[in-house]
Amino acid sequence: MISKKCTIWGNLKMHPVKEVLDSYNSLLQGQKFGLIVPYPYLHYAQSLLGPAVTIAAQSLSEHDTGAYSSQVSGEILQDVGINTVMIGHSEVRRLGIDVAAQLKIAQSLGISIIYCIGEDLQSYESGLKNSVLEDQLSLLKNMHQVTIAYEPIWSIGTGKTASLSDINEALSLIRYWLSRYFPGNSDKTQVLYGGSINHNNCLEILTKTDLDGFLVGGVSLKPEKMLEVIRLCN
Ligand code: PGA
Repeated sequence: MISKKCTIWGNLKMHPVKEVLDSYNSLLQGQKFGLIVPYPYLHYAQSLLGPAVTIAAQSLSEHDTGAYSSQVSGEILQDVGINTVMIGHSEVRRLGIDVAAQLKIAQSLGISIIYCIGEDLQSYESGLKNSVLEDQLSLLKNMHQVTIAYEPIWSIGTGKTASLSDINEALSLIRYWLSRYFPGNSDKTQVLYGGSINHNNCLEILTKTDLDGFLVGGVSLKPEKMLEVIRLCN
């Protein structure tokens, strides 16, 4: 039993997940967590698993609603009852999307944000981690309904979790940055870690850091294992 509250999000990435969602439905026993699902499953996931499971979108358009075929605006998300969106995941950043514009639109609509930040391997190895994180944090113009997920790119899907000291260092930087630019929000803002989290490493990382929880990728595609992570952390 952990004394602090742990928030867990699963990011199902770009996989066909109807069966995965059905499996969550049959295994759930009141666990509270969130799933970040591909657009076409938002409605299905919401009606099947909500409200116990919070359903979020993996991105949103950098444009307002209008003539942008194929894109999904914040207003569309709200229209189908989705009020949380992940922004800035490295797999989306590499498409060259205007993250600042996405943040601005989501915040103007009052959509909750899971904001992912994290350095790549080269920046990590050359000691530029902190300046990369600061640059990414500086896109936030207010902290209303923002959760921050620290996800070093080199740890995503690689089986290499960041060390406890790497995580603690990032956490102190984030908390310091929040206290400097958004005094009052430093303690209120949830900070999560993502990158190769599983049932073998989650507990140690949770108990030996000040993290508020995890953003889980690959393991969230295996409902039994994901629910084990959730059980261990609560
Ligand atoms: P991973 O992914 O858990 O598979 O490393 C994390 C993420 O992409 O959010």
